[in-house]
Amino acid sequence: MGNSVETVAGKLGSKTGADFIPYWKTVVGEAEAEMAKKAVLAGHLSMGRETEEFERRFAQILGMPYAVCTTSGSAAIYMAVAAAGIGPGDEVLVPNRTFVATAHSVLLAGASVRLVDVHNDDPLIDEDAIESRVTKKTRAIIVVHLNGNSADMAKVRRVAKKHGLTVIEDAAQAFYSQDGRGFLGAQSDLGCFSLGVTKFITTGQGGVVVTRSAKLHEELLLARNHGVVGTYKAEYPRFGFNLKFSDVLASVGLVQLDKLEQKKKAHLRLYHYYQAALKGLDFLRFMPVKESAGNLPLWNEVLVDDRDEVVRLLAKENIQARPFLPDLDRSRHLGRQGTDFPNSWLFSRHGIFLPSGPDLPMEAAERTVAVLKSLDPKLLRKERLPRNA
Ligand SMILES: Cc1ncc(COP(=O)(O)O)c(C=O)c1O
Repeated sequence: MGNSVETVAGKLGSKTGADFIPYWKTVVGEAEAEMAKKAVLAGHLSMGRETEEFERRFAQILGMPYAVCTTSGSAAIYMAVAAAGIGPGDEVLVPNRTFVATAHSVLLAGASVRLVDVHNDDPLIDEDAIESRVTKKTRAIIVVHLNGNSADMAKVRRVAKKHGLTVIEDAAQAFYSQDGRGFLGAQSDLGCFSLGVTKFITTGQGGVVVTRSAKLHEELLLARNHGVVGTYKAEYPRFGFNLKFSDVLASVGLVQLDKLEQKKKAHLRLYHYYQAALKGLDFLRFMPVKESAGNLPLWNEVLVDDRDEVVRLLAKENIQARPFLPDLDRSRHLGRQGTDFPNSWLFSRHGIFLPSGPDLPMEAAERTVAVLKSLDPKLLRKERLPRNA
């Protein structure tokens, strides 16, 4: 890859040998480095021209009038919650299966989190379970399009309308993914994206919020800069924080935006390969996304009978497979929920991410599949997957 920088995610420890396969691989190359260098040499270190250009193009791709860049996907969700006027005394509905950033963004705004279970056949919020979790304090719902999978936004919006809730999409894992109604993240009041290393495009760190509302756009700008847009006046009018982006990172992002189709092709190629190659393995189920609807998988996810044993056996072959992240209801600091979440527990117990990423060599996927096929299913029967998973 010439002088490009290989960006791998996860704790590598000593496993950095030539045959090590990371769970994610993306390559940021010369073109990104050149653009970043230009910004640095022009003195564009903080937030200015390149960020504006990135925001303009990001919004245009999604068909949205406004995009606001910030430091991370987590900050993007926090800004969306704050822009919606949500704070102490308010409750926000969040699916039990998501990265904890979704919930922490709500806590950062001073509000509390009320968890909702997911479907039993995919880890997306159960739209039919939302209503039973609404209380007098509920102000918003955050839908999470995990791994590029689309939640049913029409259903969510119907419930939200009935109860006067703001709808926020956490599309951190779903940039450039679509369903029959358009791009994910562009189907609600506020859509949030991450530009982290393991996302569809990356600037290392970064996040974006999109909206159609001029009023919410103004609120996002205020949240991003200590409650001030433009010049400081005689007083500080309201609360905000410094959540500004950097033109150096925006420059990297501008080149990444030129690679959308190339990345999409690479993701689908790997996804199709794994999907076909893993068919028929008794201890494993591939988790598909709704590709015919336009859903674009970010990672390649499977459910296996004995998750820890499969991860261990792959690690023995120098292959990094990451277990799914824990369910949120296990975290007491999010507050007692007073209910169970049996569907999401199934995914957190059985799910793993196989090595993925737009620049993962096909040979790495082939080696991973060969190891999986060589495992003795009898050793992996600790807990059989339920049939409907
Ligand atoms: C669903 C989800 N929400 C939010 C985030 C937070 O994004 P960031 O890591 O850029 O803060 C992530 C990151 O992985 C995520 O997967």
